[in-house]
Amino acid sequence: MRQTIRPARRLAGGITLPGDKSISHRYAMIASLAEGTSTIRNYSTGADCHSTLGCVSTLGIQVEEEGTTVTIHGKGLHGWKKPASDLDAGNSGSTIRMISGLLAGQPFDSRIFGDESLSRRPMDRIMKPLAQMGASIEARDGRFPPLTIHGGKLRPIEYTLPVASAQVKTCVLFGGLFAEGHTIVHEPVRSRDHSEIALREFGADLKVEKRTITLQGRPKLTGREVIVPSDLSSAAFFLVAGLLVPDSNLIIQGVGLNPTRSSLLDFLLSIGAPIQILKIESVNGEMIGDIQVKHAPVRGGVIEKDLAAGLIDEIPVLAVLGAASEEGLVVRDAQELRIKETDRIATVAENFARMGIAIETTPDGMRIPGKQKFKAAAFDSFGDHRIAMAFAVASLRADGESTIDNADAASVSFPEFWNILEQSAELV
Ligand code: S3P
Repeated sequence: MRQTIRPARRLAGGITLPGDKSISHRYAMIASLAEGTSTIRNYSTGADCHSTLGCVSTLGIQVEEEGTTVTIHGKGLHGWKKPASDLDAGNSGSTIRMISGLLAGQPFDSRIFGDESLSRRPMDRIMKPLAQMGASIEARDGRFPPLTIHGGKLRPIEYTLPVASAQVKTCVLFGGLFAEGHTIVHEPVRSRDHSEIALREFGADLKVEKRTITLQGRPKLTGREVIVPSDLSSAAFFLVAGLLVPDSNLIIQGVGLNPTRSSLLDFLLSIGAPIQILKIESVNGEMIGDIQVKHAPVRGGVIEKDLAAGLIDEIPVLAVLGAASEEGLVVRDAQELRIKETDRIATVAENFARMGIAIETTPDGMRIPGKQKFKAAAFDSFGDHRIAMAFAVASLRADGESTIDNADAASVSFPEFWNILEQSAELV
């Protein structure tokens, strides 16, 4: 699909975004291992989280969907059945990396594959700890999907993550659910902790001390009702759009504000963005609030070290903001960007070149001068949802009509993106 975007005069009003992708995956996987029925409200509408539901159904668990409410009839920790067909993770790195920990603990073999982009993403980061737990996994060229997972009895391990990755942390903890005793994970940088919160909500015994998580294996998980907050990573596109487009005043409702995700808000505030949190409440252990953003110039800055890990999904759209900022943006220590749905350093640079924006790329980041003019251009998402949406936001500020090829990639996390953009933006 080719999407045409005209520049915007302003963005205004109140918007509600779909459920958080990270939390939806975790609730679905954990609910499928709980005893009894779970109701998940505001489940992500993105294709990725539907890949997770597809895998859970293929494993013999009954899943019902009504709008954004998903009901999962769990049969306990040992309730999965040997799948009759291969499991399809689609475009979703979270699905394949997290569910592999659970498949490793099953008394059967399974095979899981993904689309072309996922088939190029490395899985050795989960294969190593799972092998230490006693699982045997085969991968294409030793590290790429499809994965053939020979499930079996797992032993608990103490594992220090070599990369800051919540997916890998979750995979090890999920394997630990099937191991007798304590599985211990040490993190170099605190990554998103939705798994820890969700596991506790469903009844697991888990302790967190600084950056060390200790999980007691073989818990009894119990089905329950949970509500997914709206996705802060999806809100990022509207926060940046609101900052970039003159006269904007937007309120984004019911957004997840988990402190391990909210480096985005801290960073935007630190560079002078007029953002306000209007009300905060706790739902199922996760913080939720409304965020108000108004147009204003921002300073720009440096994203490096722990901040690079905390903002990894938001960097494409922050790069767009950086090009319009007063002092520009420098990104370092973000080599993980090269192995996301696309090489996001390369795909941001390619689209910047098309709109005449200067950028210097490095192996682990980019340097973008500030105060640049946005020219209308013919963009491509290269099949990457966050690139499609980041350049839709850039188009709102351009000097004419832009197009985005392969714009339907946005559906991976945010199918409603184009409609909500149209509703909230007054176009020129
Ligand atoms: C995610 C973790 C991050 C993030 C991804 C979702 C998660 O990946 O980029 O979009 O839900 O745990 P890594 O674990 O590779 O850092």
